[in-house]
Amino acid sequence: MQDTSPVQQIAPAKINLALHVTGQRQDGYHLLDSLVVFADMGDRLTLTRGDGSLTLSGPLAAGVPTDARNLVVKAMEFAGLTADVHLEKHLPAAAGIGGGSSDAAATLRGLAQIHGTDLPRDTHRLGADIPVCLIGRAARMQGIGDIVTPLPPLPALHGVLINPRVEVPTPSVFKALTRRDNPPMPDLPEGPDTRTLIDWLKTTRNDLEAPAIAITPIIGTVLERLSQDPDCRLARMSGSGATCFGLSDTRDAAEAMAQRLAHPKWWVQPVSFR
Ligand code: C5P
Repeated sequence: MQDTSPVQQIAPAKINLALHVTGQRQDGYHLLDSLVVFADMGDRLTLTRGDGSLTLSGPLAAGVPTDARNLVVKAMEFAGLTADVHLEKHLPAAAGIGGGSSDAAATLRGLAQIHGTDLPRDTHRLGADIPVCLIGRAARMQGIGDIVTPLPPLPALHGVLINPRVEVPTPSVFKALTRRDNPPMPDLPEGPDTRTLIDWLKTTRNDLEAPAIAITPIIGTVLERLSQDPDCRLARMSGSGATCFGLSDTRDAAEAMAQRLAHPKWWVQPVSFR
């Protein structure tokens, strides 16, 4: 008998701890060098055998489309497979933390599980962040997102994510770059502890931060608030924004930061990374 039990998938938040833009291809896509980690929270997907319906719930479901604009639907088209998907949204959309890309990767994993198939190839064609989201743990991302190298587990890393609830269009941020030939990330130290990793991160950048702030100045306000917090060791934007992270020494410090930085209009979330 065919197994019709639902398949659960978590789509964790993706955070670019560092993101260097090192070049641009003829087709306009940018060459990247990025250290990517994942949070211990994210969207939740339930897939059951079916012809491709998508339903939503969760605190951040408002305004999320359920038609072909949703990356879950695009992932089914890309894979040429369907399932009925229920998506519980906990991550803000168009926020630089892979809300859509992580959902798409979780959909591809769930479809492969339900249909007993391999994952599709060349998933960067579905979105530059999909290959790294399919790995779902610390990795270096290069090329246009198509070259992903999983890393040995990083030391414990905690912090707070803040999104000022403003959507930032990724293409506009890339277009506003003033330099596209920045140096790659320096070599990661071997077997770093938390402090060494944070010290190393201070020698890296997110090259999309300045253009994103130029387009969406509130990102600068969020970074300022984070860096003024006594427990914040490093404040930076993730992806093309607008979500920023502040790293702390411990989980308790991250929770305390989240409480101090609570804001009625902002999404503020303590997290641990992996
Ligand atoms: O691949 P994805 O749909 O996430 O990319 C969104 C947009 O971001 C692209 O249309 C492109 O303008 C820009 N982008 C880029 N170089 C990359 C990834 C994305 O220029 N490596």
